Amino acid sequence: METTLCIIKPDAVKNGFEDKINEKIISSGLKIIKTKKTFLTEEIARNFYKEHASKPFFNELVEFIISGEVVVQVLEGESAIKSYRSLMGATNPDEAEEGTLRKLFAESLSKNAVHGSDSSESAAREIAIMDKIF
Ligand code: CDP
Ligand code: MG
Repeated sequence: METTLCIIKPDAVKNGFEDKINEKIISSGLKIIKTKKTFLTEEIARNFYKEHASKPFFNELVEFIISGEVVVQVLEGESAIKSYRSLMGATNPDEAEEGTLRKLFAESLSKNAVHGSDSSESAAREIAIMDKIF
């Protein structure tokens, strides 16, 4: 069994997609073992996204993720990291496959509905950061 970190981002929470996203997660076979609806602090957000600190979109990314409530969740399942990344779809919703969370629920590249860990190292790091808020 593997675990991965999921965040339902402020656009999706504001648009009322939380339950629909969680239905898709559960029907894909993943189990939601922790969940918390909260505001992230700027400190947590900057640390969480630090791999992107040198990117031109970093400040916008941090401002957006703290701009509204998010739902932070730990998902568990067989190959949970890969399986949830594939359910999410491509980063840019214009490139996301039909039926994926980003195709169905994202507004744009920056407001793309969901986050998911991209490797076992990221999952461990991200779950450790978010453990403080559960
Ligand atoms: O979220 P994902 O792992 O698919 O993509 P990422 O490359 O780790 O980028 C993190 C987040 O930054 C994305 O989910 C986008 O919301 C945002 N981003 C952006 O606003 N502009 C870009 N050119 C690339 C990413
Ligand atoms: Mg990423």
